[in-house]
Parts: sequence; structure tokens; C-alpha cells
Amino acid sequence: MKLSFLADVNSAADTVVFPVFKGQELKGALESLDSQTGGLIAQHYNASKHFKFKLGQTLVLHLPDVTGFSQAILLGLGDEEKMTTDNAEIAGGKLCKALKSSGVQHAGVYMDYGVTDSDLSVDLLIAHLALGLNLASYDFDKYKDKREPCDDDTTLAAVDFISSQSEVADKVYHVLDALAQGVFFARDLVNEPPNVLYPESYAEIVKEKLKPLGVQVEVLDDKKMLKMGMGSLMAVGQGSIRKPRMVIMRWNGGDADDKPLGFVGKGVTFDTGGISIKPAGQMDLMKMDMGGSAAVCGLMYSLALRKAPVNVVGAIGLVENMPSDNAYRPGDVIKAYNGKTIEVLNTDAEGRLVLCDTLSYVQEQDDPKVLIDLATLTGAILVALGTEFSGVFCNDDDLWAKMESSGANSGEKLWRMPLGENFSEEMKSKIADYRNLGTVSRYGGASTAAAFLEFFIDKGRPWAHMDIAGTAWAHKDKPLGPLGGTGAGVRALHKFISDHYE
Ligand code: BES
Ligand code: ZN
Ligand code: ZN
Repeated sequence: MKLSFLADVNSAADTVVFPVFKGQELKGALESLDSQTGGLIAQHYNASKHFKFKLGQTLVLHLPDVTGFSQAILLGLGDEEKMTTDNAEIAGGKLCKALKSSGVQHAGVYMDYGVTDSDLSVDLLIAHLALGLNLASYDFDKYKDKREPCDDDTTLAAVDFISSQSEVADKVYHVLDALAQGVFFARDLVNEPPNVLYPESYAEIVKEKLKPLGVQVEVLDDKKMLKMGMGSLMAVGQGSIRKPRMVIMRWNGGDADDKPLGFVGKGVTFDTGGISIKPAGQMDLMKMDMGGSAAVCGLMYSLALRKAPVNVVGAIGLVENMPSDNAYRPGDVIKAYNGKTIEVLNTDAEGRLVLCDTLSYVQEQDDPKVLIDLATLTGAILVALGTEFSGVFCNDDDLWAKMESSGANSGEKLWRMPLGENFSEEMKSKIADYRNLGTVSRYGGASTAAAFLEFFIDKGRPWAHMDIAGTAWAHKDKPLGPLGGTGAGVRALHKFISDHYE
């Protein structure tokens, strides 16, 4: 689908779209269309039982030939004073669905309002409508038989946004398009089945995708990691014939002496639970246990695509968690890269064991000024926050303030969760330095997991852990994407970077 920002309608468009705020007068191009059609628009505009200008609501009107278009679509924008970038994206997403279900091939969206009452300028409104439309157009159909046309096949090929602000909108959208490409990369990685995406193949995909954009990609293989003493990450992977990898991506778009921002992702390409095996029901969903790593890859892709003027390092720990005669066991004591020992009490609490070595390595090698990890870490975060909010555990109020302000305007929702001495105490072992499971009960399971990670963060380093177990996967179609991988984390962190570090 090609999105364009034009000053005038393209003659190839078969459908015209009019986004309209509640109470907005019939004016401009909409008014001309109304007179051309003998008042067809006004008839539905003022007294429709069906169209109430609600955010994302659509009404399709078939047009007579004289107009040169086959149909017009009214797109509700809700209350003008409530318009935000998030709402614009949702309206754009709903428009995408309406265009596809009406069989539209080429649409022209009229955006000329002049001055609006909302805080959102017209160029931002247009660019975020376009972002929503783009995000919603995502589909993962590479494994479908292309020889047979499928019902929901769409031919939507082009959408033009027409306004006097087209040049500015185009500029704003340029950045958002790079963001959307990063979200798509993350979604693709999460949706990829685990027989196709495993540590070795994952590392190859990252190289192929990021190297051409100028990202430096370093891959540590299993032999190297064993030698280096990454005993924690390696223990998790030892039960699988698919050997672990660590991939470190470096984008140096900023000043040479500027310390990088660091992002670390959990990349368990399939989590059976290992010897502490999971129940069979919905175990297939555990292909998404690499959602944190996918977000890091998506973020790096977006930044490199738009040549962001920042230094960023992204590191992902890739393993498959399998039961086998060589698998690690409950009861094992393993040694992490930083020299600390860990008593394993449940092999299904594996994400923290992969992350701790990845976190240690990136701190040692790159000394990031801020470190954020993302992981589908605990079922407990789903119990606490559901599927809309990602939980953020943060050791630094200033860092949290930045994440909160950016997250709130990125289309993602973030919620701060507690760390603390009581959680840390639970993660200390009698026979080793730490244990990978809380001592007392399952209560506070997302916080004890975060407290474990905190042991591996250097003193004084601002750090946040995002538990995205609830948000990395959509269990049904949503306005901005279908059932499946969501790309959670990419939008919030992309905005976090562009707001505070560029
Ligand atoms: N990958 C899971 C967490 C998860 C759950 C991700 C649901 C996505 C959706 C993680 O490795 C896990 O199994 N955690 C255990 C930890 C427990 C054994 C302490 C959990 O949450 O039950
Ligand atoms: Zn697990
Ligand atoms: Zn897991």
C-alpha cells in the first residue's frame, strides 16, 4: 500500500474519504460533493441514525458517475478537543478496515480543515491517521497458498492524504513510516513459527535485515559463550539441539564520544518450560517468548532506517527451552557470566537466566548511559495488568518520568510496578548466591522476577525492565493490527528516544 501526501486529489482515486469531527460544518470539498450529488451528503450528515461522528465510525455512500468517484466514506473523528495522536491512529486503523471491506483500491482522504480547535495540528493529525492506517494494514500471510485467492484478500493499493499541509505532513510521516517498518519487523519475528525461527536462523535474519542499513551486528555462538562463561544463558539452551546465540546490534548515529542507550531483549524462541514442563493447552503461544528481543530488533531497524542521530546498542539472548536428557534441571546450580551462582528451582523461570548474562555482557562492553530490557517474563504481569499495559520496573525516577511521558503518547500503555528489598530477599538462595524462583509463594511473581534482574545491574546505572508478557501478543484483532504479534515496546521506546535523546 502506497501512502502519499498531496496538495490535490489524484485522478486515479476511486473513493473519497472525509474525516469529520462531531458538529463540523459541511464545507470545502465535502460541500462541493454535496452540491454535485443533489444533497446526498447533507442527508446523511445531519440526520443519520447510523453515523454519529464517533471516533473511527464510518459510513459508506455510493456516488453517481458524475462525481468521478464510485463511493465516499465519512470517517468520524469524535470531539475535536479530544483529538490526540493516539486517537488519530485508531481512526486511521478503522478507516483501513472500512476501505478493505468496501473493496477500495485507491482512496483520496480530504484533510483540509484550516485551523482546528484541537491541540493537534493538521499535519500531525494527517501523519498519525496515516500511521494508524499503515499499522492496521499489516498481515502475516506468507505461509498461505498464494495460488488460491482468499476471501479477505484486499486490493487496497494506494491512499492519498490531500491537504495544503501536505509537505509538512510528509516530513512528519517519514519518521512514523520508519517506526511502522520497525513494528512490522518485530511482528514478523513474533509470528514466525518456532520451527523456522530458532536462535541460529534468528541471528541470520537480524544480520540480513540490519547490516545493509549500516548497523554493526556481532553474533556470539554457543562455543564462544561457553568459553566466556555465560553459564546461565547456556544452561537454559542446553536441552535443545538448536544452539544458543547472542546478537549485539550497534547503531552509531550520534557523536562518537556519546555513551549509547542500551536495550536488551529476551529471545526464547520457544518456551516449553523445560523439565518443569508447561501444560499442553495453548503451548503454541510460547513461540512469542522472544517478543522482547523482537522489540529490540524492531527498534534498531526503525532507528537505522531513518538514520536517527543517536548511539544505541541492542543485545538479544537467543535460546530454545526444551526438556531432554541434556536439559538443565530443577536443583542445578549454574554460574552466570558475572561470576554469581544461581540455584535453579524451576526451569520455566528461564527468561531471567537468559537476560542476566545478556545484561552483564552489554554493560561490560558498552557501558550504556541508560539500560532498558524487554521480556515476556511472567504470567504474573498478566494477572496484575491484563493485556493493555506493559509493566515497568525502574530503579530511577527520572528515567521512569521520561518513559511515562513518552509511553503515554505512543499508542502503548506503560504502568510502573514495584521493586524493593522484600522482593530481592526472596531471590537469595541458601546454597548459591541467588535462586530463580521466589521463596515464599507465587505472590508478586512479576516483581520477584524483576528483583532477580536487578542483581545484575551495575550500581548507579539507570535501568528499567519492561514485562511485556501481556502485550506482546494480541489474542484477537485490534484496531491497529491483527491477532498475533503486536510489536509491543517498539513504539513506546522509539518515542522515548526521539523525545529525550535526539
Ligand atoms: N514465558 C513465560 C512467561 C509468559 C507467560 C509469557 C504468559 C507470555 C505469556 C515465562 O518463562 C514463565 O514461564 N514464567 C513462569 C515463572 C514461574 C515459573 C516463576 C510463570 O510466569 O509462570
Ligand atoms: Zn518459562
Ligand atoms: Zn519464558
